[in-house]
Amino acid sequence: MKSKRNSIFKRTIIPIASGKGGVGKSFLAANLGTALAELGKTVIVADLDFGGSNLHTFLGINNIHPGIGDFLRARTSRLEDLVLPTGQNKLFFLAGDVRSPFLANMHHAQKMRLIYNLKQLDCEYLILDLGSGSSYNTLDYFAMTQLGLILTTTEHTSIMNLLTFLKHFAFRVIEHSLPKNSFLEEKLRASYNRSVMEDVLTVRGLLDELATIDLNVAQIAENNWVRYRPRIVFNKCKEPDELDLINSLENTLIQNLMLRSDFFGCLFDDPTVMISLKQRKALYKVNSSSQISEDIHLLADRIIRLWKQPLRNSADLLVNNSQKLYHQRHG
Ligand SMILES: Nc1ncnc2c1ncn2[C@@H]1O[C@H](COP(=O)(O)OP(=O)(O)OP(=O)(O)O)[C@@H](O)[C@H]1O
Ligand SMILES: [Mg+2]
Repeated sequence: MKSKRNSIFKRTIIPIASGKGGVGKSFLAANLGTALAELGKTVIVADLDFGGSNLHTFLGINNIHPGIGDFLRARTSRLEDLVLPTGQNKLFFLAGDVRSPFLANMHHAQKMRLIYNLKQLDCEYLILDLGSGSSYNTLDYFAMTQLGLILTTTEHTSIMNLLTFLKHFAFRVIEHSLPKNSFLEEKLRASYNRSVMEDVLTVRGLLDELATIDLNVAQIAENNWVRYRPRIVFNKCKEPDELDLINSLENTLIQNLMLRSDFFGCLFDDPTVMISLKQRKALYKVNSSSQISEDIHLLADRIIRLWKQPLRNSADLLVNNSQKLYHQRHG
């Protein structure tokens, strides 16, 4: 029998975040989980959108089940005992807080306990459906791995919110790199409170400010930050030309946020999604041969083959592949 320790070592955690709400995170978490399970992987999808838990809907499951809220309130239960079968082979579900209000305001010790226990779950892929925006909790779940997934549409506001999310994430990673309760931490928090006359705080600006106080710590913080390499996926695209923004987005991430990223997938807008939701059924049960199912399978396949390594030239590759696919479908 394979040991749990061994499987934890092999397990991939994929937190799904977005700057803007409603871009399709819960939809993707459920259906990417389904696709990975269909490709033979053991998957747990966990609802970490406290205050807005609705992942069960996309899986076609009732919201009556105990979940993370119950685990955090009743300190004795084990998280792994709350993992539920979904009716699909190899796909499991961990419910959020539908039964426990106000969990969105959980305190630090609860969050650390949850993160520790999530990392012990036994599966090949652990997919985390996060809340939108950059609350400390969401940022800390996203930081559970250096390779998180960010979902966005190509709309200007969605891209702007993505940049804000990543900037706040950078500040959080830098904050975590500082000695606890130190003068530096105080200085860092003070630098967030800028007067309206000052320039907007940038990642480079923050690191430079730190360097004037402690060069060594600033270097550690920078090293910690540049290790992160988020994977960006576009959703609800209507035409491949919308991806024309990709090169300027890549440059902005490098120049303004000192961040390398990979462009991992593009999912097209598809009315099948709405139909499956109206029927309260998982998408694969409504139409497993829809275009969106095909898009998600392509993404799942790419994740299995390429998730652990940096992609070369991912922006151009994604644009070319999406154009090819679109023209095959629409002539
Ligand atoms: N590719 C797609 N084509 C058509 N509709 C989609 C697509 N992806 C998602 N949707 C629809 O967009 C809506 C929002 O999706 P979802 O709830 O997954 O977003 P979210 O990012 O999880 O939102 P929140 O931030 O509120 O949790 C849903 O009605 C979903 O069915
Ligand atoms: Mg959601």
